[in-house]
Amino acid sequence: MRIISVANQKGGCGKTTLAVNVAAALARLGSETLLVDLDPQAHATFALGCTEKSSETKTSYDIFRAHFDTVELNFEDLIINDRKSLSLVPANMMLSAAEINLGGINGAATILYRTLMKPFFNKYEYVIIDSPPSFGFLTLNSMYAADTIIVPMDLSYFSFNGIDSVYRVAGLLNAETGRKPSIFFVINIYDQRSNFAKELDKDAKSKIGPYLLPTKIRSSVRLREAAKLGKTIFEYDSKSSSALDFYNLTSEILTADNKSMNAIIKEFLIHAPNAGSVYVLGDFNGWQKSDANRLAKLENGEWSAHFTLDKGKYRYKFLVDDEWKTDPKNPKNEANIYGTIDSIVEV
Ligand SMILES: Nc1ncnc2c1ncn2[C@@H]1O[C@H](COP(=O)(O)OP(=O)(O)O)[C@@H](O)[C@H]1O
Ligand SMILES: [Mg+2]
Repeated sequence: MRIISVANQKGGCGKTTLAVNVAAALARLGSETLLVDLDPQAHATFALGCTEKSSETKTSYDIFRAHFDTVELNFEDLIINDRKSLSLVPANMMLSAAEINLGGINGAATILYRTLMKPFFNKYEYVIIDSPPSFGFLTLNSMYAADTIIVPMDLSYFSFNGIDSVYRVAGLLNAETGRKPSIFFVINIYDQRSNFAKELDKDAKSKIGPYLLPTKIRSSVRLREAAKLGKTIFEYDSKSSSALDFYNLTSEILTADNKSMNAIIKEFLIHAPNAGSVYVLGDFNGWQKSDANRLAKLENGEWSAHFTLDKGKYRYKFLVDDEWKTDPKNPKNEANIYGTIDSIVEV
């Protein structure tokens, strides 16, 4: 079984669209696939046309409820299976109660994973989890369970801080639990004609390198229409460019984990509690002061950004309120041609 979580704290970037249509593509390719709707808004349940049926079955909330109330859960009752090879654990509003109740419980982030590891779920080759637009306990459950996390990004409101928050949450999860899912990013709602989108695409590539999947899901009204009618893109318009995008994306997701990645993800961190803006500029990002190279401010006065670096040696510096600073935490440095000092990172 391979568990794929679709997550991003931002709403409207295409989590549900991706979760539903990647699950549908996997089922079409002949794999037994389970989609778990883990969002109290239940958009995935709606997008598969299962809202009414979900009132007759149990929902993903019951997975958590079984845990609080220590009641026996018959897993069969969770499943809606009205499509070939594609099953759904639906959601409803009750799930927001789980989000609240989960806070105080030990091992709260592992409940979904422990459930999916029960023999009943062995029959599924793939489990796809649609997550809510926040980094609460539901998303932590989704990310903890995952072998692979897919992060859709909407370029028109592209936030590079979003990338850093995903890495940061994954880092916390790793420190707490030892789980280390691989993380891949997908550009969604892509407008090929927009120069702005092309620029951001370039920035995204330089920041996340091979972790940015090559297929972009193009902007298409067909995807909206399909979801409104409770159909997957393959049921609604199997000849559309969107159906093609989803086949391509799905095959990339299937092989992504197997590729040996030479690149590493490096966090750049500096303590600057009073700064208004901090950038990291270096050989790896062309020393360009742009949004992609801005650090995000953390609660403790630290600033952080993650970059994907290929094997090699790089010079870099922080730009703190327009003042150049070497990395105080890094003893490695070298003089540059301007007679000042650069920090050095070697991968
Ligand atoms: N590639 C796309 N082209 C056009 N509309 C899209 C695309 N991807 C998603 N949408 C639409 O954008 C809205 C938000 O997408 P959704 O998947 O629900 O995002 P999220 O689950 O992250 O909140 C929905 O109306 C959806 O149909
Ligand atoms: Mg959604």
